Amino acid sequence: MEHIYIETYGCQMNFADSEVIAAILTKAGYGMANDAAEADFILINTCAIRDNAEQRVRHRVRELRALQNRRPGLRVGVLGCMAERLQSRLMAEEDNVSFVCGPDAYRRLPEMLVQVRRGQTAAEVELSTTETYADIEPVRLAGNGISAYISIMRGCQNYCAYCVVPYTRGRERSRNPETIVHEARTLFEQGYREVTLLGQNVNSYSCGDTGFPELMDMVAGVDPKLRVRFATSHPKDLSDRLLEVMAAHENICRCIHLPVQSGSNRMLKLMNRKYTVEWYLDRVAAIRRYLPDCSITTDVIAGFSTETLEDHEATLELFRQVRYDYAYMFKYSLREGTYAWKHLADDIPEEEKTRRLNEIIALQGEIALQNNRKELGNEYEVLVEGESHRSKEQLFGRNSQNKVLVFDRGDAEPGTYRRVRVENCTAATLIGQLVQ
Ligand code: 5AD
Ligand code: SF4
Repeated sequence: MEHIYIETYGCQMNFADSEVIAAILTKAGYGMANDAAEADFILINTCAIRDNAEQRVRHRVRELRALQNRRPGLRVGVLGCMAERLQSRLMAEEDNVSFVCGPDAYRRLPEMLVQVRRGQTAAEVELSTTETYADIEPVRLAGNGISAYISIMRGCQNYCAYCVVPYTRGRERSRNPETIVHEARTLFEQGYREVTLLGQNVNSYSCGDTGFPELMDMVAGVDPKLRVRFATSHPKDLSDRLLEVMAAHENICRCIHLPVQSGSNRMLKLMNRKYTVEWYLDRVAAIRRYLPDCSITTDVIAGFSTETLEDHEATLELFRQVRYDYAYMFKYSLREGTYAWKHLADDIPEEEKTRRLNEIIALQGEIALQNNRKELGNEYEVLVEGESHRSKEQLFGRNSQNKVLVFDRGDAEPGTYRRVRVENCTAATLIGQLVQ
């Protein structure tokens, strides 16, 4: 039996895709290697969202040459967004790569590996308008047996000016709701206690009469002990209806990831985000109205085309107003093929992008710490996930708000719900004690 090894870079969607890839290839008779050094095929599932993500993958691909010299039969393939973006060009540039496979072509991997084994190269990069891998039961990789991803839709057609995703992942399409509920129920029966529904823009989920709020209602109905999370929401279509459904189910987690990207209306317009700062703040107010204990997190980009100090200050001001619990913060990276690449200058110098980014990071660090200090004395129901990284004597888990709590182990077991009282904190972690 030949063995495959999958390495995954990038977003949660890629991790979910790797589990589909593992399912397709184990069904075709391949085994899963525990280590890259024992594999016959190494598949690298990649991200193309920023240049540094691609550079990391190229570095890794080149590093694998040494392993290939020791194991002459070892073949390396690049999958996912970078494969889609670069296609065969990638094999010309990185000559130890034998195959490239885009995100909608994973069903072809078994034939591709046969072809590669015969000494040929293979490239499958066609995008689909219908593929959702709905019938494939993912093989859960590196999971903790407690928390799992469920991909509910694929693709994106929002065409934000900076973003390569519509080109690497194709048109939006939603997976049949029955298959999603079935997957959630099966996971619960296997002992999982948390599912995260994934899509590039989950709010535009639509299959027949089922929109995203209806789907959430169905999945939350699987069992009150199954926590349900979702990512990512586009602010332009975060509806009151969804917030109502969330409020009606305690097991839908009180955490909404709502990428803002910029606090300046001029930037938002140039980015083609289709909302204003006022609209965004209205959505934040609606979240706080329906779900007073909901945490809000975001994504932001520093140094997009023509961003002035005034625009940047508006972003800082928005951060002060919303007081996010967490933020993913990025420097703008120009991506080939996007609207910005065709029409807008990448005119903020690298050092200035870094300076602005660091200013946002510092501010967000203070806010997160202040938010956490307000948690002292609060008690939460925590889904225990496992041992803390620091000490075997401590466990960690998350509350509904997705905050990590660390506490002395006591008699708690991973996979169960326990009450924990917060006694201390850092900007990233709450530290507490079990409440007996
Ligand atoms: N440069 C920097 N950040 C980007 N993102 C998407 N495209 C780019 C880019 N070209 C960020 C956005 C998005 C997150 C997934 O990645 O903030 O929400
Ligand atoms: Fe990219 Fe915008 Fe689609 Fe998100 S919504 S994947 S930022 S194009």
